[in-house]
Amino acid sequence: MNKLRIGIAGLGTVAQGVLDLVRTNGSLMTSRTGIELVVQRIASRSVKPGVDLLGAVFSLDVHDLVADPEVDVILELIGGEGLAKELIESALAAGKPVVTANKAVIAAHGDQLLAGGKVLLRFEAAVAGAIPIIQSMNQGLAANRIDAIYGIINGTCNYMLTVMEEEGLVFDQVLSQAQELGYAEADPTFDIEGIDAAHKLTILAALGFGTSYDYSALYVEGIAQITVEDIQYAKELGFKIKHLGIAVQSEVGLETRVHPALVPVSALLASVNGVMNAVQVVSDGAGEILFSGPGAGGAATASAVLADVLSLGSLFVAGPTDAAQSQVQGTPSSCAVSEISRVAMDDVFSACYLRIPTLDRPGVFAQVASTLSAHSISIEAVIQKEHPGGDGSVSIVIMTHIVVESVVNAALTELSALDSVVGEIIRIRVAPTH
Ligand code: HSE
Repeated sequence: MNKLRIGIAGLGTVAQGVLDLVRTNGSLMTSRTGIELVVQRIASRSVKPGVDLLGAVFSLDVHDLVADPEVDVILELIGGEGLAKELIESALAAGKPVVTANKAVIAAHGDQLLAGGKVLLRFEAAVAGAIPIIQSMNQGLAANRIDAIYGIINGTCNYMLTVMEEEGLVFDQVLSQAQELGYAEADPTFDIEGIDAAHKLTILAALGFGTSYDYSALYVEGIAQITVEDIQYAKELGFKIKHLGIAVQSEVGLETRVHPALVPVSALLASVNGVMNAVQVVSDGAGEILFSGPGAGGAATASAVLADVLSLGSLFVAGPTDAAQSQVQGTPSSCAVSEISRVAMDDVFSACYLRIPTLDRPGVFAQVASTLSAHSISIEAVIQKEHPGGDGSVSIVIMTHIVVESVVNAALTELSALDSVVGEIIRIRVAPTH
């Protein structure tokens, strides 16, 4: 049996989940892997007297983890970019493997942190919580050309859209409810504006398509403009609204985008509800595979963190030097061979749902239709009902055929300027299909 001594930075929900899982399943992990996990040291800026540290030494300074010769592997569970990045860098420089759950730091600095190719840095927990998607992409699907990745990768957004659909609650009510239940943060900006999902998609795109870890290259929209009305109209048209991360290889390049999308009710992703996450990977050999499971929470995230620890441990118990010099199986690579050309959002093709709030008077629909026609946008379906607010306006809901983004943008600018259009036009793209 080989001891692997871990040092944990942070003592929040995920770190406590790791401690709980080591306590309850430590022996099981040893019997499976031959590795005995010992929590050697925990470092956190605040003391949490009620938490069982499993006999670990406690420090207030995370740098103590790097300095401690009795710590073999460091778990970076503090989040954020500043101190976390500093800790990862100093640990790697000292030859200590690092496991992190930190999507923000990898999405922004992955190229730098992984440079050199033999870096013992793992981040399974950074994408979709418990779902072993990183390992699956790196190893399980290593023989395939990846064609597309679609992900429901933010549990807060998925929960909110699900409750809006099932209970008819408006956005602000659902957000308060999600916060009360601990699904949404007190400051929900990262989740509802799509930033958290974009961090995760950045990582998935890097693994699937060899792009650089460049969060800023993605197109990002959140869910704040989605209303119960849109969800109901989408349903009438045969769709659910999901917040998706999409990385798809088209003839002209790679699309990487995060936004609400219409998904046919019959699609696998449409049945992933509540706080659940899912990632659908489409590849040439394996076809379509859907991974689904909990994307957040202490125990679920700890499961992914410890999977990384145990897989690193199997290398490390051979001896730190051997491990560092060995073929580092399972460590995600840094930037690919060559940077794939990304498709600008203006050049993306999709069918669109448009909800256009208009005055209820003769000729308005004709005006809207002729504006779309002037831009060669073809209409597939139309719904028109009185606005629930009863203010005399109506929502004209139009499904377009597939059209390029720049043309829709130009048409929306023109439609918005019409006197008969009395509010913001909502545009939701239909998810691509394979
Ligand atoms: N806040 C994230 C979510 C979980 O709602 O999915 C951690 O990434």
